[in-house]
Amino acid sequence: MEIAKTIEEVRQKVADWKKSGFKIGFVPTMGYLHEGHLSLVRESKKRTDRTVVSIFVNPTQFGPNEDYQIYPRDLERDQKLLLEEGVDLIFYPPVEVMYPEGYKTYVEVKELQDQLCGRSRPGHFRGVCTVVLKLFNIVQPDEAYFGWKDAQQVIIIQKMVEDLNLSVKVIPRPIIRDPDGLALSSRNTYLRPEERKAALALNRSLDLAAELIRKGELNAEIIRRRMLELIEQEPLARVDYVEIVDLKNLEKVEKLDRDVLIALAVYVGRTRLIDNLRFISGEVEK
Ligand code: PAF
Repeated sequence: MEIAKTIEEVRQKVADWKKSGFKIGFVPTMGYLHEGHLSLVRESKKRTDRTVVSIFVNPTQFGPNEDYQIYPRDLERDQKLLLEEGVDLIFYPPVEVMYPEGYKTYVEVKELQDQLCGRSRPGHFRGVCTVVLKLFNIVQPDEAYFGWKDAQQVIIIQKMVEDLNLSVKVIPRPIIRDPDGLALSSRNTYLRPEERKAALALNRSLDLAAELIRKGELNAEIIRRRMLELIEQEPLARVDYVEIVDLKNLEKVEKLDRDVLIALAVYVGRTRLIDNLRFISGEVEK
C-alpha cells in the first residue's frame, strides 16, 4: 500500500492501473476510520481491481464555529486498518494541495443543499461537493462508495454526478451500527459515557417510526410527532430537526406514498449527531 500526498502521484498510479485495464474503486473519507468506512472499502475490494482511499479533513465543509480544528485525526491507526483491508493507495493531501493560495472555485447543488442539515450548516454541502468533485477529478474512479448515514450527502452527490455528466458510479451502502443501534460516526468519540447512552434516542426514534410504518401508519406528521416525543424524553438530547421528506428532492411530504427519507439531527451535549431511515418501494431500510 502506498501513501500519495500529491495529485501527480495519484494520477500516475491510477493511469498505470487503467492501462492494465483495472477497474478503480474509491472511498473518500476524513479519516479516523471506523467499521462504516471499512465496509465501504470491503465493497470496493469486492467490486473493483484497485481501491483508493482518500483521507482529508476538508476545511471548506466546516462552518466557522464547527469542529474542524478538533476533528479526530490518527493517520497511523488509519494506515494500519487500511493495510489490513488490502487497500492499494491512500491519498493524504495537505490542505495547500487541495486549496492552494488563490483558490476560487466552488460547486453548489441548488435547493438540495439548503434542506435538512443545510439549514443549520450553511455552506456545508458546497464544501462537500467541491472537495468530492476535486477528488473524483484527481482519482478518476469507476465507482465511489458513500454510507447512507449521510443520506443528504448521498443524494446531493448523486445529483451533482448526474448534472455534471460525471462518469463515476456512486454506490450508497447501508448504515453500520454499534450492537446497541448507535450509527457509527467519527464524532461519537466526542460523547461522554452518559451522552453515549442518551444518543441511543436517535436510533430508538427511528425504530419507533419503522414500527409505526409496519403497522400501517402513513401520515408523516403523526410519525414525526411520535419521534419528537420520544427524543424529548431524553434530557441530554436537543432536537435540531426531525423531518420526513421525498427521497429525491428532499421536500417535506404529508404522506408516505412514495420513496421517503426520515432524517434527524440531534445535539447530545455539544455533539450534533445525525441518523435516518429510508422507506423505499414500501420497505423500511435502516
Ligand atoms: O462523508 C465524509 O466523510 C465527507 O463528507 C467526504 C465525503 C469525505 C468529503 O469530505
